[in-house]
Amino acid sequence: MKGLILSGGKGTRLRPITYTSAKQLVPVANKPVLFYAVEYLVAAGIDEVGIVVGDTRAEVKAAVGDGSRFGARVTYVEQDQPLGLAHAVKTAYEQGFLGEERFVMLLGDNLIEGGIRNLVERFRSREMNCQVILKQVPDPQNFGVAVLEGDRAVRLVEKPREFLSDLALVGIYMFDQNVREAVYAIQPSWRGELEITDAIQYLLEHGYLVRPYVHQGWWFDTGKMEDLLDVNRYLLETQEQKLRGTLDDCSRVYGRVVLEPGAELVGSVVRGPAIIGERTRVVNSYVGPFTSIYHDCLVSNSEIEHSIVMENCCLSDLPHRLEDSLIGRNVELSLSPVKPKAFKMMLGDNSKVGLL
Ligand code: DAU
Repeated sequence: MKGLILSGGKGTRLRPITYTSAKQLVPVANKPVLFYAVEYLVAAGIDEVGIVVGDTRAEVKAAVGDGSRFGARVTYVEQDQPLGLAHAVKTAYEQGFLGEERFVMLLGDNLIEGGIRNLVERFRSREMNCQVILKQVPDPQNFGVAVLEGDRAVRLVEKPREFLSDLALVGIYMFDQNVREAVYAIQPSWRGELEITDAIQYLLEHGYLVRPYVHQGWWFDTGKMEDLLDVNRYLLETQEQKLRGTLDDCSRVYGRVVLEPGAELVGSVVRGPAIIGERTRVVNSYVGPFTSIYHDCLVSNSEIEHSIVMENCCLSDLPHRLEDSLIGRNVELSLSPVKPKAFKMMLGDNSKVGLL
C-alpha cells in the first residue's frame, strides 16, 4: 500500500500565519502537524509516501525532504491549483505516483488519536473497495458526512445544508484502484472543487463496497487557532518529563515538562505539561501548562500559558500573562522603552489581538 498526504490548499482560516507559510507546518507540541501524518503512515507499515503540494511547495519540501528521517520514501505530487481533494488524487494518478495498488489518503492538517495502524489493518483484512473514517460531531454542516446502514455507507454528502447524519468524514480515506474511475467521472461541486466525497458517492452508486469505521478518540482538523491549541493540549498531556536542556539552581520544573537539547532555564518556573524547544532560553519567566515554545526563542521577564509560540520569537518584559495565543515565526513582543507610553504594533493582515 502507498500513502498520499494532501498538503496543498490555502489555509484561509489561519491567516495571517498562512500568508507566509503552510498551515500544515504549524507546530503542535513542537512538531509540524504534517510530520504526524508521515509518522502515522510509517507506523502502519507504509513507507512509500506521496505528498501533494501547492503554493507552499518549497517550504514543505524543505521541511520533509526525502522522508528518510521518518523511515519513508517521499515523492512530491505537484498540484497547480487547489481544485479539490479528488483533484489531488487525479493529479497523483496523472503524475504516476498512484497506479493499481491500494492507498491511504490523509489530509495533512488532520490529527487523530492513536494514529491509523488499526484502521489500515482493518482495510487490509476485510473485503471492501473503500474505507471511510467517521466521527460523531455537533456541527456536521462543516464537514462531509456519511449515512450508514449496518456496516455499509449508503450516502455521502459534502457540507450538507440540511441534516442528514452527524457522522463527519475524518480526513482519512482508504481506496483500491476503482477510485481512479470515480475521480475522472465526477464534476466540480458548488464550491468549484472536485470533492472526494462525491467520488466516494460515485463508488456507492456503481456498486462498490464502502465500509465505515466510527472513531471514538479525539480527532482534529487543525484549520483554526482554537483547534491547534486543543490538540496541543492533548498531545502535551501524553508526554513524559524529559529534561535534555539545562536549568540553573533558581529554576524549577513541575510535572510533564520537556526541555529539548540546548533549551535553557534561568531563574524561571515551568509548570507542565509544557515543552521548551531547542536553544530556547527562558529567563526570569513563568511558563504555565499547555504551552509549546518552539526552537530558538527567548522568553524573558514574562509569563505565558496555554499557547503555541513558533520559532525565533522574542517575548520580553510583558506586563501581563500571555494566554490562549498562537504566535507566528520571528515575532518580537515586548514592552516598549521608547516614550510616549502607548501600544506600538506592526501586525499582519487579519491579526487578532486581545488587549487588557
Ligand atoms: O477535515 C475533514 C474534512 O476535510 C472532511 O469532512 C471533508 O469532507 C473534506 O472535504 C475536507 O474538508 P475541508 O473543506 O476542511 O478541506 P480543506 O480545503 O481544508 O483541505 C483539506 C486538506 O487538503 C488541507 O491540508 C489542504 C489539502 N488540499 C486541499 C485542497 C482543496 C490539497 O492538498 N489540495 C486541494 O485541492
